[in-house]
Amino acid sequence: MKRDTNLKNDLVVKTLLGEPTERTPVWMMRQAGRDLPEYIKLREKYSFFERCQNPELACEITLQPVDIVGVDAAILFSDILVVPQAMGLEVQLIEKQGPVLPEPIKTQDDLKRVRVPDVNDTLHYVFDAIKLIKQELNGRVPLIGFAGAPWTLLCYMVQGRGSKTFDEAKAFCYQQPDLAHQLLQMTTNTTIAYLKGQVAAGADVVQIFDSWGGLLSKKDFEEFSLQYIRQIAAALKDEVPTIIFAKGAWSSLPEMAATGAHGLGIDWCIEPQVARQIAGPMVTLQGNFDPAKLLSPIPVIKKEVTEMLRAFGKGRHIANLGHGILPNVPVDHARAFVDTVKEFAH
Ligand code: CP3
Repeated sequence: MKRDTNLKNDLVVKTLLGEPTERTPVWMMRQAGRDLPEYIKLREKYSFFERCQNPELACEITLQPVDIVGVDAAILFSDILVVPQAMGLEVQLIEKQGPVLPEPIKTQDDLKRVRVPDVNDTLHYVFDAIKLIKQELNGRVPLIGFAGAPWTLLCYMVQGRGSKTFDEAKAFCYQQPDLAHQLLQMTTNTTIAYLKGQVAAGADVVQIFDSWGGLLSKKDFEEFSLQYIRQIAAALKDEVPTIIFAKGAWSSLPEMAATGAHGLGIDWCIEPQVARQIAGPMVTLQGNFDPAKLLSPIPVIKKEVTEMLRAFGKGRHIANLGHGILPNVPVDHARAFVDTVKEFAH
């Protein structure tokens, strides 16, 4: 296992490895480039993918929540959709609408446009950003790299845009399972090379985001998502600590724990004690504050965060939200979340 001995704050890494720490670590999913006024300013000047592709900008945005909110880990500023882009698909990010892929994958012919790229050619800008971020962080906190799970990427590659149900993506899997599995395996191979490249560039931890895992039944989650996540976790687990976040897929927590991943993200719809019981004692749990609760008055945030910390108990817990931070959360509310965790003693 690779470990940066220069880390001054290694609470997240230690917690993932099951080592004792003086307190519970805390960071927030989607903390980079969402709510902070310092980010909004950059957004006026550069397009989304310009921000991702320019290592200096990506570095600046990654560091903002560390400097301003005081989280215990940085997460690389990028997006899960840079992988479909590198595989040959056009991805646009449209203001107020989200991601759009104008030519989604629907047929065998469409699949001919997709390739497993050399990540050193197509995604080198991410590796350059990671090197710069590690240098600028100078060991202050660990850097989390990430990728989307193949299933969640398929959702966008087939549906062509965001959706509450991803019904077209699901229909594609159920009507043309062979094509779906070809696409999922190509995405898996790309993702393994991509995450290994992130680790080689300096990422201390990697997280796999399966935001739409909860749209599938347990059986379909195994077929269309988990078997691919398992390959990714197996390829990475001896390199750095790995976290799987499959939103809504809590019924598969035992199978996810069995992948060898060090951490499992959970959302707010499952109680910490129940998640612990299902996942077993040997894995770190990450979560699970309802992101919308950060819009409550600060005293309510403090009270509810304290309740959450008690429910998880001491050790093997990384405090986080149950999904990404909402863009309209006031900075002092995000800070109240982080400070409450830092001040709490079990
Ligand atoms: O966590 C971080 O702060 C690091 C950066 C990060 C982004 N996207 C930046 C981003 C991460 C980890 C992601 C992951 C991501 N992207 C997921 C998985 C996590 C989740 O929230 O479910 C998904 C499904 C996407 C796809 C995506 N990218 C969507 C749906 C959108 C638009 C709406 C939204 O959620 O913001 C994006 C754009 C995007 N990715 C933005 C940012 C900061 C907003 C762009 C802007 O500033 O206008």
